[in-house]
Amino acid sequence: MTTTRIAVAGAGYIGLAHMGVARSSPTCTLSAVVDPSPSARAPAEQAGVPLYASLAELLAKDRPDGVVLATPNVLHVPQALECIAAGLAVLLEKPIAPTVAEAEQLLCAADAANARVLIGHHRAHSPIMAKACEVVASGRLGRLVAVMGSATFFKPHEYFADAPWRSQPGGGPILINLIHEVHNLRMLCGEIVAVQAFASNATRGAAVEDTVAINLRFASGVLGSFMLSDTAACARSWEQTSQENPAYPSYADEDCYVVAGTHGSLSVPTMRLKTYARPGDRSWWKPFECSVVGLQRADPLTLQMEHFGAVVRGEAAPRVSVRDGLANLRVTEAIVQAARSGATIELSSHSSS
Ligand SMILES: NC(=O)c1ccc[n+]([C@@H]2O[C@H](COP(=O)([O-])OP(=O)(O)OC[C@H]3O[C@@H](n4cnc5c(N)ncnc54)[C@H](O)[C@@H]3O)[C@@H](O)[C@H]2O)c1
Repeated sequence: MTTTRIAVAGAGYIGLAHMGVARSSPTCTLSAVVDPSPSARAPAEQAGVPLYASLAELLAKDRPDGVVLATPNVLHVPQALECIAAGLAVLLEKPIAPTVAEAEQLLCAADAANARVLIGHHRAHSPIMAKACEVVASGRLGRLVAVMGSATFFKPHEYFADAPWRSQPGGGPILINLIHEVHNLRMLCGEIVAVQAFASNATRGAAVEDTVAINLRFASGVLGSFMLSDTAACARSWEQTSQENPAYPSYADEDCYVVAGTHGSLSVPTMRLKTYARPGDRSWWKPFECSVVGLQRADPLTLQMEHFGAVVRGEAAPRVSVRDGLANLRVTEAIVQAARSGATIELSSHSSS
């Protein structure tokens, strides 16, 4: 079988992880690395692949089948446009763009070229999310009414000292972390049509928020609340509960989402399911039937690379499209705006355009 040749642009934190999964893939192979930094030399040598200083050099000398763009956010749109113009499939890291306006420009170009672009919301490939969506779709929870979520963790001083942009406008946990949560919430409950938010920077005193309380309204009528904090010594985050990234300690007694319907609720990722056995049993004075939904865990980044290979070969449509990436960014932008203004921000008119 011929393997799909994948080049990775940006050999930084997440780019190295993409290189690793491409190298161990049964269907893809790492063909090259693109990064102007001298620090990329060692990982490229270790992988035994050529290193190019720019996408233009890669395209001129060593055209791959697909490109992973794991570069700084400001490069996402210009580099994706360069790949689209060259007719290459792209796995573009999140966020799709630094601003909705730039993401809209990418959407136009991708549509016009009928381009194959997968946005790197890798949790969309998580078996936990697949199983949770399956439970919701099965109707076992009844009609969904509420979702409660959290991404509360403590980022150490070095995290900000190593990359000062993380505590400057353009950084902050809304743009860095919440966009992943938004995609998960959209997978579970559908489109978000309105948001409210309180943000605080009182603990770190940085230019960006450290803690945010968010209210969400979904098109389906479901209401949601979400707590986000990068200064809370608390394990209620995907990273510390999903067991999907061994870099993080994991706590089997904590969840980061609870999805509640008229007949039951599901806690994610422990997958504890509480349902009323019969419609007549629905009362807070009666006990739930309690179970744990079984699932086979697997690394979503590995699964994402396999999916990207299929997208490159034209065997699959991107599971996370440019439209999805744009919709996620619209929600995070609206949350920033809601926190600044104190107003309710409605997204209904353009959330799925
Ligand atoms: N999916 C995830 O969970 C996840 C996790 C972390 C980061 N990210 C995203 O991935 C992207 C990269 O983040 P990071 O933390 O790995 O950043 P990083 O700073 O660790 O790495 C970025 C790399 O890009 C290189 N680079 C700069 N200009 C370049 C150019 N013109 N061409 C090619 N390479 C260039 C840099 O030299 C650096 O090696 C960001 O968009 C970030 O939001 C996603």
